[in-house]
This record gives sequence, C-alpha cells and structure tokens, in this order.
Amino acid sequence: MEITSMCGIIGILGEKDVAPLLVEGLKRLEYRGYDSAGIAALTNGSIQRCRAQGKLVNLEDKLAHTPLSGTTGIGHTRWATHGAPTEDNAHPHATDRVAVVHNGIIENYAAIKKELEETQVRFETETDTEVIAHLLTHYLAQGQSPQEAADNTFDRLEGAYSVALIFAGEHDLLIGARQGTPLAIGYGDGEMYLASDSYALAPLTRKITFLEDGDRVIVKRDSAQIYTKDGLVERAIRVTAQSGATTGKGQYRHFMLKEVHEQPAVIGDTLNSFINPATGKISIPQNILEALEKTPRLTMVACGTAFYACMVAKYWFEQIARLPCEIDIASEFRYREAPLPEGGVCLFVSQSGETLDTLEALRFCKSQGQTILSIVNAIESTIERESDLVLHTLAGPEIGVASTKAFTTQVTSLACLALALAAKTGEISAEKEAEMADALRHVPAEAAALLDETEEQIQDIARDIFEAKDMLYMARGPLYPIALEGALKLKEVSYIHAEGYAAGELKHGPIALIDESVPLVIIAPANDPLFEKTASNLQETVSRGAKVLLISDKEGTERLKHFAQWTVTLGDIHPFVSPILYSLPIQLLAYYVAVTKGTDVDQPRNLAKSVTVE
Ligand code: G6P
Repeated sequence: MEITSMCGIIGILGEKDVAPLLVEGLKRLEYRGYDSAGIAALTNGSIQRCRAQGKLVNLEDKLAHTPLSGTTGIGHTRWATHGAPTEDNAHPHATDRVAVVHNGIIENYAAIKKELEETQVRFETETDTEVIAHLLTHYLAQGQSPQEAADNTFDRLEGAYSVALIFAGEHDLLIGARQGTPLAIGYGDGEMYLASDSYALAPLTRKITFLEDGDRVIVKRDSAQIYTKDGLVERAIRVTAQSGATTGKGQYRHFMLKEVHEQPAVIGDTLNSFINPATGKISIPQNILEALEKTPRLTMVACGTAFYACMVAKYWFEQIARLPCEIDIASEFRYREAPLPEGGVCLFVSQSGETLDTLEALRFCKSQGQTILSIVNAIESTIERESDLVLHTLAGPEIGVASTKAFTTQVTSLACLALALAAKTGEISAEKEAEMADALRHVPAEAAALLDETEEQIQDIARDIFEAKDMLYMARGPLYPIALEGALKLKEVSYIHAEGYAAGELKHGPIALIDESVPLVIIAPANDPLFEKTASNLQETVSRGAKVLLISDKEGTERLKHFAQWTVTLGDIHPFVSPILYSLPIQLLAYYVAVTKGTDVDQPRNLAKSVTVE
C-alpha cells in the first residue's frame, strides 16, 4: 500500500493553457519530493492527465510529445513514504468527474475504501489519495454541488492533508483545503492560484494568503472565498518578498557546488544583518535578548543538519553566555514530554520553516507556555508564522537537497546570538566581545580564501577515497558536530556509509572498525584548546592501521603530517568561528566524492529537502 505524504501541490485558474505554468511551479516545489510528478487539466471541460514516474524532467518529456491543453489545472510532485513510486500511484488521482492533488496522509483511508468498494467502486491505485476522488464522485453522483461534495468529503477525512481539486465541466472552479500541511492562495491578474508555498507562485504573483488549519477555499478567477466549518473567515493578503527569478546553476555543474561557493556572500549577508555599522558590534533585537536573559534554560530543537547547528550552538551558549541548554531532535523531543522551565525559551532552527516534526515540537512548547524563538531561512514559512520571535538566515533559496549554505548561515546566526547575549549579560568583557565580533567579521573573506585554496586538493583526495565503503569522522568540542555533519553530508550525496564521533569516544567502540579500508577524517586545528587530546586520538588510530585525512591549520598539519595520509590545511582561524569555516572543506569532500562516484548530487535518492511527514 502506498501512502502519499510529503509532496508539492499547485492549482491554476489561468487565462492561457496552464500546463507550462504548472510545470514551472512544480520545478519550484521539487524540494518537497521528486519520486513522481503529474498534472491534470480541463480540456473542453473534461479531465485529462499526464503523469510520470521519477523526476519532473520525465513529465516534461511526456508533455513535449503529448501536450495537455486547458486553462484550469492542478499539479503535483511527490515523495512517497510507502511502496514504489510508480506512474499509477502518481497524482493527480481522478475519476471522470473530479481530479485531486494531495499532500499529507489520510489516516482513515482504509475504512473509506472498504465502504466504497462495497458500492462497487473499483480502485486503480495503492494510494490513500484515491479515496478522495471516489468519495467526491460518490457525493457528486447524488446530485450534490462541487462545494457540497467537497465539504462532505473533507468532513470524512482524518489525518494531515492539503488538497486542490478541479471538477469536470467547472472551468472556473478550484477547491482547496488545509488541515495540517501548508496551502497558500495566490492572487493574479485575471488568474488565481493555489500552492504548497509562496515560492512556487513567485513567478506568477506576490499577493498571497496563507491558509490556516481547518480552512477551505472556493477559488474562482475573480475571487477566493475562505471558510471553516463555522462559516466564512477573513485571512490577510500579504505581499511576499519572494523573488520570481529562476535560480539557475550559473557556471556551476550542480546547485550544491554553487551553494557551497555562495557561502562567503550569504554568511556575509547574514552577519551584516546583525552587525551595527556604527559600533561594529553584533546587535540582536532587544526583545530576543531579554527573553534569553530571563530564561532559566534554553531548549533547542531541530532536525537533520539544523540539529547539528543547534549542537554547535550549545557549546557557545553554555561556554560563552553561561546559559544552560538542552538540545534534541524534534522527532524525539515532541513525544517525550520533557518538563520545561517556567518562563522558558525554546529555539527552533529550520531552513524550510516547514519541517513537520520541528513544527509539532514548537506547538508542544507553545502549549507549555514557552516563548518561541525561531531561526528560519524561508521567509513567511509556517514555523516563522507560529513563532513569537524570529531571526532570519539570509542564505537565499537553497536548491541542492544536501544543506550547505543554510547550515553555515544558521551556525553564523547562532554565533551572533550567543555573543550578543554574553555581552548583554556581562559574561564576557568588552575586549573579548570585540575580539569575537572581529573574528566573525573576517569569516566571509576567510571562507572565500579557503574555498579557493583547498578545492582542487580536496578534489584529488576524493579520487583516492571515493571507492570506500565506510568512513569515519572525528573531532572535539564545537567541531564535534561538524564531524557529524561531515558524515551526514557524505552519506546523503555519495551513499557511502559514514559516522561521526567525538574523538574521545572512538576508543569506546568505533575504534574496532578501523582498518586501512576505512578512511578517517579528523578535524583538529592546533589552536583548539583540546588539540593535544585529539592528536593522541589520531595516533591511536594510525597505530591500528587507519588512513587519516587531517583537516587542520598550518601548525596542526606541521605537527601531525607524518601520521596523515592526506592533509587539508586552512589558514589561521579564530577558534570561535572554526565550526563555520571547517564546515566548508567537509562539504567539498562530500561533493567531490559524490561527483567522482557519479551520483545525483542535487537530488540524492530517497531524500527530500523539506520533510513534512513525521
Ligand atoms: C531534511 C533535509 C535536511 C534538513 C532537514 C531539516 O532532512 O534533507 O537537509 O537538514 O530536513 O530541514 P529544515 O528545513 O527544518 O532545516
């Protein structure tokens, strides 16, 4: 059985043929999944579909041979959770009366399916979504209007979903509903749209209404009527700042490489948003600092790469600002009923601002009376809208599924936050504050130099190690999360099994894995206060046959080069900002290993950029 879960949806009531616009929108939604894609349009009033397994380009190829005409249509790009992502299971799902695209999970689909099968309805797919199409058809066949049929259908559905519907013979009608997963209305000039996010609609319009859970909407070319079970509701129309410009790869072969190289600029943009030009000090809105000053403990929650950003920040908040911190991954945190301190602040970090586990963890904390602070990249995302306080990373759209610039801008923002807090609470002297702010200000230039100096060398190392089956990464202190992130990056894009460890933990188990076929990446700058300890750990592994890639500074390389098979040497970097800058070589390593192996770097198998399922 196949459940449709996390996906991108779009609907258009257009003036011209909508197929090309739907495909354009789906391109901007592909970050939500790329297992299959499809569109449906009304051709002379009847529902026609085109669907394809795999990435959007397969759908484009099909449409090039058999174009779909019609000015009313819906589209879908899919990330499957169960079963094979075949063409049959691809959306839109349709009968001759109605077509549906759906994002989410219909939890009671089996009961509805059984009931419909008893009335001789034949199901053609393994999806949960197909019950929506048949239920609607069932109500329409009883003579109900599209809106009545839609309302009766939505009333029956349990689970989290957003949907967009078109109806045969209803040229001027789109119906949408949001219950747990995002849906936005776009207002065009004589055209109207629905989509999972405003980014998908950015080339078409910037006038957007974000629906709330429980909202339903009847869209016509000249209006959108939003209502809930209790009647009509008003939702604000916002003018978004999203740019419609298509984000190309420029001179780069992959988005991931382009985004790695954008880091000096976007870290600079993010930093500049926090630097007071008059004083050179890091400045964070006072209400945020005041909330942090009062909290007995900071709770940080995120998923994936964003969680590693929190892990780095824990070292800073505790060591520099002396603020006790708890961190957890959202999928665990949201269910473990952690007691939270009275008057506490919870901080959520998310690139997309839509990750469901992170959002649900946020809602849990809100229900416990906590103040919600978030650091997000996607402006106007759900996490941002549900937070009390927000900081933005200015990474711009990140297209490569493996996060790079989003991560380093998250780490940069967290560094600014920890530093500003430490300065406000007097935990560090004015002199120390100035020194650390200075270190931050140098990051963009150092990042640019580092990329320039190490890229070719890392490319060569990648050629030596791309056939490895397993790899280990290790480091200490605030660089330990960078070892974890390095292993995650490698796994994601090259499919090589990799694990990150705290260097001191290696001897408690993982050292058993060491042999010459398992390359070991050690991140250890000599100016790290724990350098000597990591150096000993390195020697322990070398004496057991490890082949080591050492990432360090000049002094560290000088000291340890006899033990390492490969070295990557960075400039003299202030230890405070090491986690930001040492992220770059590990990103390049993952990228070049993947390219040498020939994997699909920007859209690795089985992954999606924004995960809106639990
Ligand atoms: C997915 C992505 C990761 C990302 C994680 C959290 O798994 O593939 O790159 O770190 O979600 O996403 P968020 O948008 O909340 O930062």
